[in-house]
Amino acid sequence: MARLKIGVLISGRGSNLQALIDAAADPGYPAEIVIVISNRADAPGLGRAAAAGIRHITIPEPGRAAFARAANRALCEARVELVALAGFMRILDTVFVEQWTDRMVNIHPSLLPAFPGLHPQRQALAAGVKFSGCTVHFVRAAVDTGPIISQAIVPVEAGDDEDGLSARILAAEHRLYPLAVRLYAEGRLHIEGNRVRVTGATMPDIVVLNPAERLASPSG
Ligand code: GRF
Repeated sequence: MARLKIGVLISGRGSNLQALIDAAADPGYPAEIVIVISNRADAPGLGRAAAAGIRHITIPEPGRAAFARAANRALCEARVELVALAGFMRILDTVFVEQWTDRMVNIHPSLLPAFPGLHPQRQALAAGVKFSGCTVHFVRAAVDTGPIISQAIVPVEAGDDEDGLSARILAAEHRLYPLAVRLYAEGRLHIEGNRVRVTGATMPDIVVLNPAERLASPSG
């Protein structure tokens, strides 16, 4: 089975990269990471790529267009079929976004379109929502927009601070991103306007309440 070739763009820690590396370690997973690109030489995620024996490069180019040209060249040379942004903290050149339209995905730690941009967990706490979560979406020119592939919901707990909520969401990210990439690799995503239809998937039929309490009975 030919596996889909993924290029991952990172800027930092790389825990979502690690989740994809771990998923792809299973030969039955339909995608493999062929290159990791960082815009920062000190990104810890580069060490994760190295440990997994994955080709990794740094493009420390400060200019947006110049970075995009170099990244596009490297991705094309590696015959990448899908670009996965994983904690990539730079705004991408619009030409690059066009070149990879419908072939580039991102993960964001909120239930988009709520709380795009920086510090989404802090935004969620400030807004007082009872649920937040994470979203994998196709990338469009405006930051954190694009057809949504999959989402995971995570409850906000009473005593949460930004770190606690971020950690709970991150654990969900590590499950969601490999799933979304697998659906793409299996050809099961169909973009219809701003919606993504997923074939052969089971949708949950649950309603989750937060806080979850039994309704008071008339006798109680
Ligand atoms: C994640 O929360 C991701 O959703 C966001 O940036 C963070 C990157 O974390 N885009 P890591 O580098 O994958 O550990």
